[in-house]
Amino acid sequence: MAAANLASNPPSLPRTLNRAIPKPFFLKPISTLKPRWVTRAVLSTSEPKTQKFQHCFSKSEDGFLYCEGVKVEDVMRSAEKRPFYLYSKSQITRNVEAYKDALEGLDSIIGYAIKANNNLKILEHLRKLGCGAVLVSGNELKLALHAGFDPARCIFNGNGKILEDLVVAAQEGVFVNIDSEFDLENIVEAARISGKKVNVLLRINPDVDPQVHPYVATGNKNSKFGIRNEKLQWFLDAIKAHPKELKLVGAHCHLGSTITKVDIFRDAAVLMVAFIDQIRAQGFEIDFLNIGGGLGIDYYHSGAILPSPRDLIDTVRELVVSRNLNLIIEPGRSLIANTCCLVNRVTGVKTNGTKNFIVIDGSMSELIRPSLYDAYQHIELASPTPSDSKVSTFDVVGPVCESADFLGKNRELPTPPKGCGLVVHDAGAYCMSMASTYNLKMRPPEYWVEEDGRLSKIRHAEMFDDHLRFFEGL
Ligand SMILES: Cc1ncc(COP(=O)(O)O)c(C=O)c1O
Repeated sequence: MAAANLASNPPSLPRTLNRAIPKPFFLKPISTLKPRWVTRAVLSTSEPKTQKFQHCFSKSEDGFLYCEGVKVEDVMRSAEKRPFYLYSKSQITRNVEAYKDALEGLDSIIGYAIKANNNLKILEHLRKLGCGAVLVSGNELKLALHAGFDPARCIFNGNGKILEDLVVAAQEGVFVNIDSEFDLENIVEAARISGKKVNVLLRINPDVDPQVHPYVATGNKNSKFGIRNEKLQWFLDAIKAHPKELKLVGAHCHLGSTITKVDIFRDAAVLMVAFIDQIRAQGFEIDFLNIGGGLGIDYYHSGAILPSPRDLIDTVRELVVSRNLNLIIEPGRSLIANTCCLVNRVTGVKTNGTKNFIVIDGSMSELIRPSLYDAYQHIELASPTPSDSKVSTFDVVGPVCESADFLGKNRELPTPPKGCGLVVHDAGAYCMSMASTYNLKMRPPEYWVEEDGRLSKIRHAEMFDDHLRFFEGL
């Protein structure tokens, strides 16, 4: 049956299809975000079972912040440079174990999305825990190989993959997602150059509304990613025409990021399985359903009940089993975001009469999500303040010469003394990997607390001399 028929006659009508798009909840002003309201916003229509969550950062009764058993203030004293990123290695392990437990009984690959955080030590740890890797550039592919990931558990994604990177992917035997007509041509060319047949998946847009910020929505019809569904038949014919170069092994989708309702994944999986039925009906023996990444986390620290990896997997399990599929998932944020804080030092406090500012040494250069997406990340002080320090509403800002340089707005905090530690929580994903050297703020060092409580540096600070090196000999 032609793909066009399938596109116009989906097997069931998902509740999250992009027909009437509800006003996204992230557009509400932060001041309206009351804990109860947030809870309502994140609950799925089918109530998720909750998992008891053990957080790696906690405050002692006397007001000091700890990462596992290590006092953050002590780390500040010993760090090479401030600000810095501080991770819990154990929390990374716990997050992976939650996915592994959820996937028990299914053939599956946990493909960690390297774009979320590309620290080599973290990658090696995730690889040892059994993860595969999801790559969106040639350098991420090279880094994954360097970190020892099994190429047969790696997936190369992207709407603009270039030929030379595709050749490496073909040589190494990683899965490659077909994103467009020209992408298919390039993959065929890469297969010829490398003399290897490439295992490919078709990236399809199920057009399910992920109800997230538009900048992190990817699986809708107007997305720059994925094939045009009406052209599915064209892609199947093109793959059939290249039996020496391409082996179609599955279908892929990625709906978006920070998704907090698992029904959205279920609705997409219903559509994807219908596509798989159609593709199989044409004689293709495809085994893999890749539902991408995208599970959100509790950035608000509001106590909201968010879906867990188990809730996510349970919602698609029956579909996967019914078609005897191997499930690929591509989590980034939900594996790494909550394992880390950006630790800053307060440079000073100022007011303009109507607004109060806490100025810190960290900035949009080290952590750009608030500036880029108006994203909320929880902020707290790392040490107790004097008993007479006044609680006020502050914007927490950096020293970068941009008004968009803020880490948090309208935060109620005790007035911190100069030099006090201030942390931005849930900074493990899309923070360091998006850091820049804007205003020549060199990229920060990274540390983690090992399972035995030792502190180890896992990335050196970038220094001014590193910048000068780009000009050596010119
Ligand atoms: C194709 C693909 N897979 C996986 C991910 C990881 O998503 P997340 O970090 O939200 O789990 C992304 C990120 O947007 C992506 O583009």
